[in-house]
Amino acid sequence: MNYNFDEIIDRRQTNSSKWDVKENELPLTTADMDFKTAPEIISELKDKVAAGIFGYENPSEDYFAAVKSWFHSEHQTEIQRDWMLFSTGVIPALSSIVRRLTHPAENVVVQSPVYNIFFNSIENNGRRALENKLIYNPETREYQIDFVDLKKKLQEPQTTMMILCNPHNPTGNVWSKSELEKIAAYCNENQVILVSDEIHGDLVLEGNGYTPLFSIDPSLTNQAISLTSPSKTFNLAAIHAATVIVKNPFLRYQIDRGLNNDEIAEPNLTAIPGTIAAYRYGAPWLKELKSYLRDNRQLVEDTLDNKINGIKLVNGQATYLLWLDCSLINKSSIEIVEEIRNQTGLILSPGKIYRGNGDHFLRISIAYPRKVLKDALSRLIQAI
Ligand SMILES: Cc1ncc(COP(=O)(O)O)c(C=O)c1O
Repeated sequence: MNYNFDEIIDRRQTNSSKWDVKENELPLTTADMDFKTAPEIISELKDKVAAGIFGYENPSEDYFAAVKSWFHSEHQTEIQRDWMLFSTGVIPALSSIVRRLTHPAENVVVQSPVYNIFFNSIENNGRRALENKLIYNPETREYQIDFVDLKKKLQEPQTTMMILCNPHNPTGNVWSKSELEKIAAYCNENQVILVSDEIHGDLVLEGNGYTPLFSIDPSLTNQAISLTSPSKTFNLAAIHAATVIVKNPFLRYQIDRGLNNDEIAEPNLTAIPGTIAAYRYGAPWLKELKSYLRDNRQLVEDTLDNKINGIKLVNGQATYLLWLDCSLINKSSIEIVEEIRNQTGLILSPGKIYRGNGDHFLRISIAYPRKVLKDALSRLIQAI
């Protein structure tokens, strides 16, 4: 290992939103990592600050070249320069797209249980979230798409958009090419705009990586939008950088107007150099990160299997978020989380907030130095 993922960094009193908790508490909640980002990125950002000029910026051609090159080398996908727009985050862009391309009271389809903030982007803007609930098989502990229900929901005249999460937070599903083609074809048939949030795309821990929406049959992606960012991959959430990928020029023009109108199209001083450094130099760091996360995942799985009755790991292939089946415990996820926190200070995310069948599940992040994760697991053993 060239990078030290065992290093423990005290994030209390550092403005961390996750670590704004009591002295004895340990949060495994928000999706950022407790690892320092790659040293190559830190070095570029130090240079940027040392230059001492903090004026207004535009995303440079180097930025878009770095995104394009990352997708080529990491995901074997070609993105054209003019398909890309910069935004200050995936969720700011998503909310703006919902506002610009749909009307109040229309349906936006999501596949629950799903990242809870999608519901904010939809409902805070006066649209309706229509749940295409994923089907859970407790035997295999896997989720799959209910295509019969999806077709029905997309056919509703009030449905104008679908938000896909690929890979899926919180279940860890990596959707296959044929699943994506089927979803995109159903959206096309019903003139539904398909927005694919691919923020976890670089963090596939098993198998051959994820399939970017823009790598499928081009005839299926004319009404498609992809959202990507180095923020989950390299622990860069607070640099606030994301790329919106839209092939259709008419759609892209509208989105561009929306991002500008919402004032989320201009980078802060770290966004451009941070993203370029991540995509240019970050691949070796990412490889080691994934290996460390795989070992952390195994540790959690072994602990659940051998030491904890009643909680099982759901089989996902991606992200550093694990989805735990606690349906054998006869309580709601909210109650379970509260009791664990009160007894041991360990803070987990209750599955209920992700809707669908989430109330029988808990979500944890495993992006911690091993010693911290072990502390979390012993608290969990004690509580259960
Ligand atoms: C699926 C998904 N999309 C978006 C985000 C947040 O993106 P951003 O910080 O760029 O708004 C997260 C963070 O957890 C996420 O899991």
